[in-house]
Amino acid sequence: MYNSKITGLGFYVPDNVVTNDDLSKMMDTNNEWIIERTGIEERRWIPEGSEDTTAVMGAKAARIAIERSGLTKDDIDFIVFATLSPDYYFPGSGVQVQDMLDMPTIGAIDIRNQCSGFVYALSTADQFIKTGMYKNILVIGSEFHSSGLDKTTRGRGVSVLFGDGAGACVLSQTEDKSKGILSTHLHSEGKYADKLIVSSPSSTKWFPELVATEGKDLSYYPHMDGTFVFKHAIVRFSQAIMEGLSANNLTVDDLDMFIPHQANLRISQFVQHKFKLSDDQIYSNIMKYGNTTAASIIIALTEAWEKGKIKDDDLIVLAAFGSGFTWGSAVIRW
Ligand code: ACO
Repeated sequence: MYNSKITGLGFYVPDNVVTNDDLSKMMDTNNEWIIERTGIEERRWIPEGSEDTTAVMGAKAARIAIERSGLTKDDIDFIVFATLSPDYYFPGSGVQVQDMLDMPTIGAIDIRNQCSGFVYALSTADQFIKTGMYKNILVIGSEFHSSGLDKTTRGRGVSVLFGDGAGACVLSQTEDKSKGILSTHLHSEGKYADKLIVSSPSSTKWFPELVATEGKDLSYYPHMDGTFVFKHAIVRFSQAIMEGLSANNLTVDDLDMFIPHQANLRISQFVQHKFKLSDDQIYSNIMKYGNTTAASIIIALTEAWEKGKIKDDDLIVLAAFGSGFTWGSAVIRW
């Protein structure tokens, strides 16, 4: 058995900044409401005519991560791609990255776990490395949300929250059992699937139905019971952190950096106050990017690392909660 550790990090977001004031021109909303309820000041949305897609952004982030790992694309043994907004209904985005990066015919899988997608992807990659099956795995989280949002007043409870972007890391085998991913913890509770859902396209209800309703079928847009999700998020985030720490006989005092999925600044602040974390022990960037779902943790981790906030031997906990419901955590010794 081996451990796996992150050897390269990268992220990519589109240049196009969409402020809260920009949104107030599209729907009945305002900067004050969005900042007070979510902390979000702006997000990146892929502009019309751009070459960017979920797979393209994932490939851009991946190139940076591979370069920083000191490896080449030919050293990568496997791809794990997390997204809820793939370019195609099928095939998944992982195989597109294999092609875009001109990689050998290595395996690629997509992970469909929404906001918990990156934690699930990291955990999946970790298992392949621990068993010795692979040495270097490319793990990607990427989302193109802006094309699928209802940007009218009808959809304002959801559309102001989400942004586009991608992050990636290279996970590599190490024999040092004291370093890298110490443990991961994954959960789901499918009875709440309809609390945060995009129910179409669906194999039970295919495109002819959309055409028949002249595009007025709202099931193609995200639906969220925001207050319900919020209440569960604060409970599950706390459980995910404690589960990860206690599995390693650690406490909150040992924590150097907590990187939560960036769903809502209020959720992160609740967790921060509950565990009495200092501002240096938690990283938030939702203000700039909104909720980028499967990309959010890896974008935040990369940005924190680029700013020198993550040092050798630091104890880092990643935790996420989202649609499914799914939640999970990863405990990492850097
Ligand atoms: N601008 C202005 N007013 C708005 C907006 C908007 N963008 N959106 C909603 N409102 C109005 C509502 O219509 C409502 O008005 P009413 O009282 O007259 O009916 C009022 O503001 C309050 O709406 P709520 O939905 O109750 O607002 P709340 O304080 O719950 O905040 C929010 C909403 C931000 C969505 C919050 O519930 C939340 O963050 N939930 C959790 C999100 C989350 O964690 N998601 C999981 C990850 S995402 C994933 O997995 C894909």
